[in-house]
Amino acid sequence: MTRLVLAEPDRHMRRRLQQRVDALDRAGEVIDAPVERLPFPDATFDTAVVTLVLCSVPSQEAALAEIARVLKPNGRLLFIEHVRSHDPKLAKRQDRIRPVYNLVGCNPNRETLAAIEASALRVESVRHGEVPKAPKVERPMIVGTARR
Ligand SMILES: C[S@@+](CC[C@H](N)C(=O)[O-])C[C@H]1O[C@@H](n2cnc3c(N)ncnc32)[C@H](O)[C@@H]1O
Repeated sequence: MTRLVLAEPDRHMRRRLQQRVDALDRAGEVIDAPVERLPFPDATFDTAVVTLVLCSVPSQEAALAEIARVLKPNGRLLFIEHVRSHDPKLAKRQDRIRPVYNLVGCNPNRETLAAIEASALRVESVRHGEVPKAPKVERPMIVGTARR
């Protein structure tokens, strides 16, 4: 049986997530846990997914270490994250605007791919693209997979 566990500490997001899970035709559980302290033993999951989360966590290093811990050997992380631009001019704009984004807990200027590469995960595939319709500073995006 596939077990779907979704960790979401924000109560508004959690409520929306619960509605989506209830509408699904499979077992799913929404838990209230920060990604840095997932209440699961080592090597529990085949797959972990982060979408626009590594831009928000206080420490990417701590988040990725915990994700690596709960993944089974050869387990996969799927990620979609908006990241620091390769264009130095846009990266500078991302740095300038960061204090504003910090008010909503987001850092649009992070070197997230480097953080994944520096973790216990091995990047398997990555595509650089743009978040559609987002403000320019939020557009640079990576989509990819990494293995434990
Ligand atoms: C930009 S929102 C993205 C929401 C959703 N994942 C999506 O793709 O639409 C950032 C999310 O990161 C979550 N988040 C922030 N810090 C977190 C942490 N320490 N542990 C787990 N989730 C966290 C927030 O609760 C929020 O849902």
